[in-house]
Amino acid sequence: MDDRLNEDLPFKILRREWQPVAISEELKQDRVKSFVLLDTEIVIARLSTGLLVAENACSHKGARLSIGSICEDRLQCAYHGWQFDKEGNCMNIPSLINPPETKLKTSRLKKKEVQERYGMIWVQLEKDESITLPDIPEFENPEWTYMIGPPTKFQSGFRREIENYLDMTHFAFAHSTTLGKAASAVVPKMNIVTLKDGFQMDAPFPALASAHEKPGKLQESHMRQQRCFLPNFTTIRQTFNDGDMRVLVHIPTPNTHDECTVFWSVAISPGFKGPVPEDQLAFAVKVLDEDRFMCENQVPKEVPLNPSRGGWGVLVTPGDLLANTFQKCFRQYLLDRSLMVSDND
Ligand code: FES
Ligand SMILES: [Fe+2]
Repeated sequence: MDDRLNEDLPFKILRREWQPVAISEELKQDRVKSFVLLDTEIVIARLSTGLLVAENACSHKGARLSIGSICEDRLQCAYHGWQFDKEGNCMNIPSLINPPETKLKTSRLKKKEVQERYGMIWVQLEKDESITLPDIPEFENPEWTYMIGPPTKFQSGFRREIENYLDMTHFAFAHSTTLGKAASAVVPKMNIVTLKDGFQMDAPFPALASAHEKPGKLQESHMRQQRCFLPNFTTIRQTFNDGDMRVLVHIPTPNTHDECTVFWSVAISPGFKGPVPEDQLAFAVKVLDEDRFMCENQVPKEVPLNPSRGGWGVLVTPGDLLANTFQKCFRQYLLDRSLMVSDND
């Protein structure tokens, strides 16, 4: 194995990637919340001027800023009342009548890059302007119906969730109470192509039959396209026989090596003939919970990078091809970027 591929490398490299940390709608003005992104605790505050994202530690005595509040349109620390603006600049130190400029300057927060798109708040821990979010036009097309699911915490590494999302042979077992016992465990022939920013799989998807629910539109045969934008942004595009389409995305944001939060959303084409959007979302929540259960019951908690340790790439079936493609591409993605990070990062 390549020495550069150690288990610390993914988090170092992902610091430059945009990761969702909250749903835009859920963080109203003057609200503050915290999130653990790649082992780093951050605070997110919505001011009238925009979002402030920084390491969740006050520059004075390290109090968590997420227990603070918004005051005078600044994030105010709960401990001694220091105030910070959107850029993380310290604007006020109440215990000093006229805080000197130098004192304020050195009290700046460790601010992080932030943007809002697809109804989510995205954060980049290390600034890298060359990295942008994948464009999914359907998510921003007002003629489509766009729905955001509730972010779901998995007590597993983020690569377990990606493998699960790419896996088509678990339906008949892990989802027997939702997708249906008659779902075939034999996968259709997948056409997989590797692209410079990830890979894509196209396959006809067989109809699912279920003893539990009326076979609906979502169980009909369709064309399925799975597009993975490395490192962890994966869409599924379903095209049904009547031309209706659905596009889903999963982004498992790593909290720690053993935990991730799955951000996900669905867009359906105009006039989609099938379950109403709310029912589609409720059904997806149930299915995702079954996936969470399986991911949380795999050992080790994260898919090892090194296949010689077992865990992937050893006992495989044709159905594992897509997950293995991810592992292979992910390793290459890490190697291509390994020079960008030093041991001190
Ligand atoms: S720790 Fe924040 S103001 Fe003192
Ligand atoms: Fe699943």
